[in-house]
Amino acid sequence: MSYQNSRIAETAKILTERLSGLENKAEILRSIELKALFDELKYLPADKKAEFGQEMNELRQELIAAVKADQDKDDALPPIDVTAPFDSNVSQDQHPQLLSSEVGSKHPLMTEIETVLDIFYRMGFTAVESREIDDDFHMFGALNFPEDHPARDDYDTFMTTQTDKNGKQFIAPAHTSTMQYRVLQKYKKNLEECRPIAAVIPGRVFRNEDLDARHEHTFYQLEGIYVAKGVHAGNLIATLKTWLNSYFGKEIKIMTQPFYFPFTEPSFEFAASCAFCDQKGCNICSQTGWIELGGCGMIHPNVLREAGIDPETYTGFAWGFGIERLVMLKYNIEDIRHFESGKLDFLRQFS
Ligand code: DAH
Repeated sequence: MSYQNSRIAETAKILTERLSGLENKAEILRSIELKALFDELKYLPADKKAEFGQEMNELRQELIAAVKADQDKDDALPPIDVTAPFDSNVSQDQHPQLLSSEVGSKHPLMTEIETVLDIFYRMGFTAVESREIDDDFHMFGALNFPEDHPARDDYDTFMTTQTDKNGKQFIAPAHTSTMQYRVLQKYKKNLEECRPIAAVIPGRVFRNEDLDARHEHTFYQLEGIYVAKGVHAGNLIATLKTWLNSYFGKEIKIMTQPFYFPFTEPSFEFAASCAFCDQKGCNICSQTGWIELGGCGMIHPNVLREAGIDPETYTGFAWGFGIERLVMLKYNIEDIRHFESGKLDFLRQFS
């Protein structure tokens, strides 16, 4: 842009030249030359003020636009033509321009699930992935929920219109406990070989929830199952404590309180001492020093029996907790809805 006033034209030239060499372009807006023009304006005679002021503002706007254009350039990702035909036989340089892998990153939940699984692998557990569609038997029947029992209402989820061979609708699982029957069945031969059943089951679960900062319709759980001879609730607490100590890298206390789940007896809710304030009281734990994480208990004899395991000989424990909750705690994330939002500014903080 050309300026009538020679002082402004001269400053514009200096600043545009300097701008190209600046790493942080916004610094130009704080330059001493620009400030000097503002100071000069104050001392001009009244009849010169209007023209000088207008050109000075134009220069400022020009610089602001240049800074913004530079930021936009940084933010812009290479476009992808999703309609481009892709012939996998042609050479690599003729493939459509996809985003380079450095631009992408792992979702924070996946990174944390891997960390948690790694801890359990080292504790001797194996991992089994859960399903995203299941049936009434695995969701309720195998878990000792009688037909029409009101406890079913706690797991209000989504159903398909299609039905299974028993005429029951398929279900988007509301918890990873749906996998218990399959895991017990699959690994029960371990028991005959004097080895425990020890499995963790990460999976996506779905609930018909009213959404807020702590509730999502879609989230992840991690279920755990351990069955052998002589297993008791003390083993359950020790397992949860060992895992949490390792995940947070510090000593965590566990608190349990009685609860009701049809598939465990006794059943507990478990809370961990707040890893943020070490129980001094903070916003994250609502000044209580404890964070509720999930449910657990000793596997109900009916659940073992249903899977063909003799509850007179073997006992076991199980637990289930929400993974987002754990990750929110670790990184002080204030709203669970960020995880499914696909917002790049949230996701890039973890890449
Ligand atoms: N499935 C329960 C829920 O989502 C959590 C749970 C409680 C899982 C007790 C368990 C358990 O394995 O033993 O509400």
